[in-house]
Amino acid sequence: MVITRRRTSVLAVVVLQVLGTWDGAMACLPYVSRDVWSANPPRSVDKFPGPIPFVIIHHTYEPAACYTPADCCKAMQAIQRFHQQDRGWNDIGYSFVVGGDGRIYQGRGFNVVGAHAPRYNDKSVGICLIGDWRVDLPPENMLAAVQTLIDYGVRMNIIASNYTLIGHRQTRPTECPGDRLFKEIQTWAHFSPMMDVVDPNSIPT
Ligand SMILES: *[C@@H]1O[C@H](CO)[C@@H](O)[C@H](O)[C@H]1NC(C)=O
Repeated sequence: MVITRRRTSVLAVVVLQVLGTWDGAMACLPYVSRDVWSANPPRSVDKFPGPIPFVIIHHTYEPAACYTPADCCKAMQAIQRFHQQDRGWNDIGYSFVVGGDGRIYQGRGFNVVGAHAPRYNDKSVGICLIGDWRVDLPPENMLAAVQTLIDYGVRMNIIASNYTLIGHRQTRPTECPGDRLFKEIQTWAHFSPMMDVVDPNSIPT
């Protein structure tokens, strides 16, 4: 009986280890919904149908990187204030924002027309990494959070399984998402070197 119990517990440990590995592949989303970061309501919400063919990577440049939930929450509020009040947009421009706390902050969300990449706002997920990533690579927890979000979207059939991943600079003249981060995403699955750069001032919005 004692031996059986010991065997059972050894088996349980092995099973838990296997499940642990499996859990890593299907990570829980470290997700922060709008109410949690005290977002202002959007002025209006326009939806578009999925599955979404493009994932577009951004950096904020400003605000600078944040590393705690409290600081990232403040950064989210600052970005939304800038986009809604100074720029006059309906809402924060991005679909999602990733903080240096490793968490995924809900921006407009999936299938909501964004304001982050002209001509692609109604066919992309705009994911922004808080900080200036021209020289420094974002920490591993931020890169992992982006991948977790994309994997989740694909698994839920919200993002097309054959999605194309690009940086903001491939759609308009900008240094975004920063040289170092841009170099990094070129190594990611589904990255496309396509260039479709148009000056947004030359096209109707
Ligand atoms: C992805 O698959 C869809 C549906 O089959 C197709 O229309 C589209 O052209 C594909 N896109 C890419 C980038 O291969």
